[in-house]
Amino acid sequence: MENQAYSTWLEIDLGAIKNNIKVIKRMTGTRVMAMIKANGYGHGVQAVARAASEAGAEWLGVARIEEALNLRASGITAEMMALGYTPPSMIPEAVRENIHVAIYDPKMAQAYARQAQKAGGRLKAHLKIETGMGRLGMSPEKVPAFLEEIKTQDAIDLNGIFTHFARADEPGANSAAKQLNRFTALLAKLRKADLCPAMVHTANSAAILNYPEAYFDLVRPGIAIYGLNPSPESPLPEAFRPALTWKARLTFLRTLPPGHGISYGSIYKTSKDERIGVIPVGYGDGFRRVNGQEALIRGQRVPVVGRVCMDQCMLQLDSVPEAAVEDEVVLLGEQNGLSITADDLGKKWGTVNYEVVCGLADRLPRIYLDS
Ligand SMILES: Cc1ncc(COP(=O)(O)O)c(C=O)c1O
Repeated sequence: MENQAYSTWLEIDLGAIKNNIKVIKRMTGTRVMAMIKANGYGHGVQAVARAASEAGAEWLGVARIEEALNLRASGITAEMMALGYTPPSMIPEAVRENIHVAIYDPKMAQAYARQAQKAGGRLKAHLKIETGMGRLGMSPEKVPAFLEEIKTQDAIDLNGIFTHFARADEPGANSAAKQLNRFTALLAKLRKADLCPAMVHTANSAAILNYPEAYFDLVRPGIAIYGLNPSPESPLPEAFRPALTWKARLTFLRTLPPGHGISYGSIYKTSKDERIGVIPVGYGDGFRRVNGQEALIRGQRVPVVGRVCMDQCMLQLDSVPEAAVEDEVVLLGEQNGLSITADDLGKKWGTVNYEVVCGLADRLPRIYLDS
């Protein structure tokens, strides 16, 4: 097995990612832009990009132009969009590599047009609308005049219009419905004036679950393609499968006498003879330096004790007398029917599952399975 070379590693089931994308395609009946920014939400962008395309995702979405360019450099030819800010100086690259960018400001559009002209090509762009997220986006009232102006601009092919929801994961709040109303009112106005760009998109994972009226021409799922819940109030249906498991090997094990400090600051002290194991996982891997964490070993849940170090931490193994050096330990995922989910870790860390997976360090080897 490849993983025998490693003391800690991630196992990523590309079969789960493909399954999740197919489920979304069936649910929505629209085109899918698989969101693979931030190293494919920590899952490894190259492999996720290929799996997404294989599963039928027509588009790949990233935040930054350099993420898109890296994918192109590795031979990925799918339709691709950088949804965040693109510096004007990178527009010639976007034109050359056929990467769609977001526009949300008239001055920015002029700068982009100048750069596209310089590059001797046409920039593909989508207009981002501010409907309630309070992040990037053009106010709806400015849009008609802007679109009139951009029509005269040969260097920009404005082929999409989109917005992003702030609270689509809270089905009880009517925030997403309000955003949708603002957006559809604008679309109606634009259609009447024959100004509406060809492709319309709004839905992140939570909107895919909660707002079918937000599907339009394309959906933009991120967290759901990795099989993770958009939020506790918006869990994924059973057909979705989580893709990622984080494993490590027990590297050392011994019994320490009563009163023995464990790790920096000795915040944990043995109260009797205690079996203490070491695993090579620390905050340098994205495991947080917080108390009260757990791991799975030999099908049992055991506590992490003492401070988490940069590269290692310790397990209290009194309840698992059969534990032995080299045993497989699970930090995130399932073992013998027990599980630690990204939601569980997020709760312990005071954050969300998104941040848990995005924080998985580059140094963790990623082993790809396809079940
Ligand atoms: C513009 C945009 N669309 C879609 C997504 C995907 O969101 P999610 O991972 O919640 O599906 C994101 C992610 O933050 C985003 O910024």
